Amino acid sequence: TKVLSVASEIFPLIKTGGLADVVGALPHALEPFDIETRTLVPGYPSVMKAIGSTAGGHWPLGTLFGGAASLIEAHVHGLDLFVLDAPHLFDRPGGPYITPGGYDHPDNWKRFAALAQAGAAAALGAVKGFRADIVHAHDWQSALTPVYLSFAPGHRPKTVLTIHNLSFQGNYPASVFPELGLPLSAWSMEGVEYYGNVGYLKGGIRMADAITTVSPSYAQEILTREGGMGLDGLLSARADRLYGIVNGIDDEVWNPATDPAVPFNYTVETLDKRQENKRALEAEFALAPGDGPIFSIISRLTWQKGLDLLAGMLDEVVTRGIRLVVVGSGEPGIEEMFRDAAARHPDKIGLKIGYDEPVSHRIQAGADGIIVPSRFEPCGLTQLYALRYGCVPIVARVGGLADTVIDANFAAVAAGVATGFLFSPFDSEHLFEALDRAARLYEDKTSWRSVQLGGMRSDVSWAASAKRYADLYRELLQG
Ligand code: ADP
Ligand code: GLC
Repeated sequence: TKVLSVASEIFPLIKTGGLADVVGALPHALEPFDIETRTLVPGYPSVMKAIGSTAGGHWPLGTLFGGAASLIEAHVHGLDLFVLDAPHLFDRPGGPYITPGGYDHPDNWKRFAALAQAGAAAALGAVKGFRADIVHAHDWQSALTPVYLSFAPGHRPKTVLTIHNLSFQGNYPASVFPELGLPLSAWSMEGVEYYGNVGYLKGGIRMADAITTVSPSYAQEILTREGGMGLDGLLSARADRLYGIVNGIDDEVWNPATDPAVPFNYTVETLDKRQENKRALEAEFALAPGDGPIFSIISRLTWQKGLDLLAGMLDEVVTRGIRLVVVGSGEPGIEEMFRDAAARHPDKIGLKIGYDEPVSHRIQAGADGIIVPSRFEPCGLTQLYALRYGCVPIVARVGGLADTVIDANFAAVAAGVATGFLFSPFDSEHLFEALDRAARLYEDKTSWRSVQLGGMRSDVSWAASAKRYADLYRELLQG
C-alpha cells in the first residue's frame, strides 16, 4: 500500500510541536504493515537546506499561486520526502506559520492551499512512478487535500484527515474562495463554506473518507459543545467515520539508554543514574542542590497548556518545597509571570525561555516529574516521553493525558500499576493538590520508584496505534 502523507511539519527538519514528531515517526512505524509512506512538506529554508545534495528528481507543477513550483524527491534522516519547492511561498525568514515579528504570514491561505494542491497532484501521478492508494492529511494546513481530491475526475485515492488540534482551523474570508481553484459547488455547507467564510479544516472534515484524531478521549470531547470549537455539529454528523488513535513515540529518538543528549544514560535496571542527571540539571539551571523533588515544564506557554494557572501559583509551589525547571516560550503574559517568579526564587525556579530540543531531553532524564496542566490536550507527547524516561507526569484529566497516565491513587500504587498523577476539575486548588500528592509520594522512595517503573514499562510505542492506522487504510481500500 502506498500512502502520501501531507503535512506542514516533520521532525527533524521543521518542528513547532508534536505534529512534527508524529509525522516524522509514523512512516517508519507503518513499514511492518507493508505500508510505504511518502511525506509531502513545504520547501521552507530549513527543509531545502536539509535535503541539499540528496535531492533527486524535480517534477514541475507549473504556476501555483503566482509563482513557479515543483516537487523534489528527497531521502533524508530515513524519511522519503516530496518537497514542495515554491520559493515565492516558502523561501522566507520566520517560522512555518509566522513572520520573524510574530504575526501570521499574510498569505498563509495561499501557502497551505498550494500545499494541498501539490498533495492532490502528487497523489494523482505528478511524480513519475508514484501514485497514492491513500492520502493522509494532517491538520488545517493540509486539510484541503481531500477537498481537491474529491473533485478530481477519474479514479482517486481514499483520504484520511487527522486532527491534531481542533483549535487551529484555517478560516479565511469568502473573498479567497475564487482563487482556490475549486468548483463553485464547493462553496456550500457540503464543501468549504463555514459560516460565510472559507474553512480549510471544515472542508477536510466534510470531504475526507475518514477522520482521525490523536486519542480516544479527544475523539469524544470534540463531539461536545465545549470541546467542539464550533465544529461539533459537523463532527457529530460524521461520527461514524471518526476514530481516536493515540500517538506513540519514536523510541529511537527518545530512549534513555542511548539518548546522546543525556549525560548519564540509564535503563530500568540502572535507574539510580537518574540522580546524576538530576545533579547535572541542578547545575545547568543554577538551582540550589537539595533532596526534594524537581518538577518540570517543557511546553508552549499558552492558554491551551494551562500554564497561566500554574504560573499564578508558583510562590505556593516553591513554598511546598518543590523546585522547578521550565523550558518554553509563547504568550508574552505567561512568559512574564514565569520570569518574575524565577527572579523572586532564582535558586528554586530554573527558567529558559525559548525552544531547545537537547535541553528537553536532559530535563526528561533528570527531573523527577513533569507538569502538563492542559485545558484541552488532543494527545500530548511530553507525558509519553516522560513515562519512557521515568519522569513522573502530573497532568490534567483531559484528552490524551487521561488516556495515557494512570493516577497514583492508593489502589493503583498498591497494585503497582500507577504511572503518574491526574487532576480535575481544572482549577488551581486541584492542580496544587496533585502537586502536593506527588511531592508526598516522592518522600516514600519505594512507592515513588514503583510509579517510575510503571511508567517506564507502559507501552508508549507506535506498535498498537500503527496497526490501527494500517487497519483503517485497509478498510478504506476495501470499502
Ligand atoms: P503540542 O504539539 O500541543 O505543543 P505535544 O506534547 O504534542 O504538544 O508536543 C510538544 C513537542 O514539542 C514535544 O516534542 C516537546 O518536547 C516539544 N517542545 C515543546 N516546547 C519545547 C521547548 N521549549 N523546547 C524544546 N522542545 C519543546
Ligand atoms: C497537537 C496537540 C497535541 C498532540 C500533537 C500531535 O499539537 O496539541 O496534543 O500531541 O498535536 O498529535
